[in-house]
Amino acid sequence: MEEKNLYDMPAEEFKSTGYKLIDWSTNYLKNIEEFPVLPDIKPGDIKSKLPSEPPQKGEELDSIINDINEIILPGVTHWQHPNFMAYFASTASGPGILADIVSSTLNSNGMVWKSSPALTELEDVVLNWYKKMLNIPGEFKGIIYDTASVSSLHGIAAAREYLNLDIRNKGLNGLSKLRLYCSEQAHSSIEKAAITLGIGLEGVKKIPVDSDFRMIPSELENAIKQDILNGIKPFCVVATIGTTSTTSVDPVNEIAEICQKYNLWLHVDAAYAGSAAMLPEMKEYFIGIEKADSIVTNPHKWLFVPIDLSAFYISKPEILKRAFSLVPEYLKSREDSIVDNLMDYGVQLGRRFRALKLWFVIRYFGVDGLRERIREHIRLAKLFANWIDEHPNFERLAPVPFSTVCFRAKLNGMDEDSLNSLNEKLINEINSTGKLFLTHTKLNNKFTLRLVISGIRQEERHVKQAWELIKEKLNSF
Ligand SMILES: Cc1ncc(COP(=O)(O)O)c(C=O)c1O
Repeated sequence: MEEKNLYDMPAEEFKSTGYKLIDWSTNYLKNIEEFPVLPDIKPGDIKSKLPSEPPQKGEELDSIINDINEIILPGVTHWQHPNFMAYFASTASGPGILADIVSSTLNSNGMVWKSSPALTELEDVVLNWYKKMLNIPGEFKGIIYDTASVSSLHGIAAAREYLNLDIRNKGLNGLSKLRLYCSEQAHSSIEKAAITLGIGLEGVKKIPVDSDFRMIPSELENAIKQDILNGIKPFCVVATIGTTSTTSVDPVNEIAEICQKYNLWLHVDAAYAGSAAMLPEMKEYFIGIEKADSIVTNPHKWLFVPIDLSAFYISKPEILKRAFSLVPEYLKSREDSIVDNLMDYGVQLGRRFRALKLWFVIRYFGVDGLRERIREHIRLAKLFANWIDEHPNFERLAPVPFSTVCFRAKLNGMDEDSLNSLNEKLINEINSTGKLFLTHTKLNNKFTLRLVISGIRQEERHVKQAWELIKEKLNSF
């Protein structure tokens, strides 16, 4: 290997390896269906193939690419695979992947406007576009964070600041207990935010849900009244549009009225389902969203933007700024009074140029193209749900408002325990084929399989193959 100088990789080498890597990415995506969607490996298998000491001398990138093929790929769960129907199946599209190259090439850090004006301003413009695409009326400022967990953390931090208790300076000592409400089906990130913000897990009240897994507003109001009587201070309600297990939709409009009545902050977690707000026919699931104080939705879940990109909207950005702005001398600039410095709106200082990914994806596919893709996923999920409904040995366990189907095998004469074991065995058998990856949840103590269609490469044939495999495995027991 040629002796390297003290500086970066030579331009010609960067170019030739870059082309090789683009070829590698193209082939990977073209041949993705040849990989088993879940790797057949044991914990530690990958580590055991990697040296425990770093190389003393530099290596050729070719040998790294070789290791990607030989060591890394066999240990990858292929999220880009169309038979990946687990979790919320998020995929990275071509334009999103290419935008990541631009982001890393520029290596901009958007701490403050001056540290990368284009980063700050594109983020604002593209989040305004996205807000319009989602048909969210009203004044909201958009900010990009990495994940929905972090977006919700900031929403709840703003709710805490909105109490005007100067917690920023004094901490929580000596204050009455604070209470945050969410449904029993809310994502665990809400409890993690409560842990982080000193609210504590005991400060989170989980409100019961109805038979369709939606928060019951009257139960919410009862809980608020009871807390007030007991000297506990309610401060925030988190409503979810598209819960993780079933994609149920809390009645945001009714919850918003309760929040208004008791002057509570309303944070809406639409991490996965938010993208569906682009479709006029899905309007009913988003009624009242504009009454929220903060909203999160993740283009990295269901808008084909490579992980990570979470869009956070807040109607009172000055509250978030009041909670977090802390400006050391070296970050001050002449423009501060007329620009937005993104570091003022959260915990982190540095941030990468994520807006490029959303910008590329929206511009490449267009609003119509994105709508059509989301619409098709919803159609495919309904198709699968119909097959489940019509089959005597399966049952659906939740409504299907979006593109996620909760179901289980149900054979006559089996009690609940046996059905749970049967379904656990079924999902393990399915996943071990490498032909399909599903995840599970528990609904009313029933072991439940979840099938999610939200990947950009998923076609009707993949859903049909999945259905055939599920039936075949059940028949083989
Ligand atoms: C409703 C909901 N909220 C939040 C999250 C957390 O998402 P992230 O991984 O972006 O933090 C999830 C994850 O699936 C989710 O389903």
